[in-house]
Amino acid sequence: MPTWNSRFKKSLDEKALKFSSSIDIDGKLYNEDIVGSIAHVKMLMKQKIISYAEGKKIISALESIRKEILSGKLKYDWRNEDIHSFIEEQITKKIGAIGKKLHTARSRNDQVALDERLYLKKEITTLIKTLIGLQKTLLKISSKHKSTIVPGYTHLQRAQPILFAHHLLAYISMLGRDVERLNDCLKRADKSPLGAAALSGTTLPIDRNYTAKLLGMKGIVENSLDAVSSRDIVIEFISTCAIIMVNLSRLAEELVLWSSQEFAFAQFDDSFATGSSLMPQKKNPDIAELVRGKTGRVYGTLIGILTVMKSLPLAYNRDMQEDKFHLTEAVNTTKDCLEIMAGLLKHTSFRKDRFEKELDGDLSLSTELVDYLVRKEIPFREAHNNVGKVVALAVSKKKKLNEILLADYKKISPKFEKNLYNFLTAKSSINNRLSDGSTSPKEVDKQLKFWMRKLS
Ligand code: ARG
Repeated sequence: MPTWNSRFKKSLDEKALKFSSSIDIDGKLYNEDIVGSIAHVKMLMKQKIISYAEGKKIISALESIRKEILSGKLKYDWRNEDIHSFIEEQITKKIGAIGKKLHTARSRNDQVALDERLYLKKEITTLIKTLIGLQKTLLKISSKHKSTIVPGYTHLQRAQPILFAHHLLAYISMLGRDVERLNDCLKRADKSPLGAAALSGTTLPIDRNYTAKLLGMKGIVENSLDAVSSRDIVIEFISTCAIIMVNLSRLAEELVLWSSQEFAFAQFDDSFATGSSLMPQKKNPDIAELVRGKTGRVYGTLIGILTVMKSLPLAYNRDMQEDKFHLTEAVNTTKDCLEIMAGLLKHTSFRKDRFEKELDGDLSLSTELVDYLVRKEIPFREAHNNVGKVVALAVSKKKKLNEILLADYKKISPKFEKNLYNFLTAKSSINNRLSDGSTSPKEVDKQLKFWMRKLS
């Protein structure tokens, strides 16, 4: 029976205890819990709420508990309701009555809110590093494929040729915004809720700012009710994970497509591909598929945390214990997927020569002809119409655009001249692009340089 249950005549029913225990999940936050407790004790000492000698004893007990958990000597099971009560119980076992002073001017409500924020700070920092690692991997491949030409798609139909580096740089930009979102989240997480106590603060002369400072946090959560009852930081973080996963799932999907025989563009190293238990010829993109599939888990945690928090009256409610399930699941899955994606990409080769020849004269160069006519002062709509006729002719004759005779072009528009064929190579189409942020080698180089500087 917990030490705080003196008003009860019976201890909690076994089934009810098992049902309500959360230590299987919050047990992973033992270090955050201990770090928070040590800061709290130091503050209590400074404020003379407990004596220096008492504080010292509690701190050294906390430190040895940390060592024992880390080494595996101290194990918890579901009978320990949560990590906070477990550690408190252990302290009292170690140092007796003095240990009972640890919880002075504190509640598990502000304690758990702090643990989560400390955990978030640590995990956000790791996630940012992992994201940057993936960006660097993509950047390396981009630099290798500065002149590799691939079809660019809309509606998964060939649209216009692009540089493969440009395509990958789009992902680098997306991941860059994910980093920004995480940094933003970090700013808001970096405030201490400790000292809010159960919900309304305390009559004891604590110093919340001192505790925050000891914890290396950038201030306190001002409103005590807000401090113990808000989980919008967790929601914001998990939303960011969900966005990271959307981005990853798109890249994963492209890798699946590119590695198909139809695309025949990407080749996974054997160490990152799988066979079939039935079909001997298969080399399957399971790793990319699993990243795509695991996206569902992270979306699940987002819906989960939103549902837990929906309509909860202020302040703390036990429902909120469920938040750590969603939080840790989102952290672990997102981190795993980011890491494995970098590994997969490092073990994938892309064929430089796969598309360029095929794209010369391809229908995906039609816009080149439209722009050609526009430069000859034909209104865009009319130019589009004329080239539409060229396309229809090419389709009916099963010919490429560069196989249509000049005479036929001229029949459609007298503005077509012999030099039109210069515009019908994949390379010229890319080289001729002028606009900022386009797929031209000059612009792609600019992006490459930008990211090299930023990521170094
Ligand atoms: N295990 C609880 C949680 O994670 C800790 C807070 C308990 N507070 C309470 N009033 N029962 O939410």
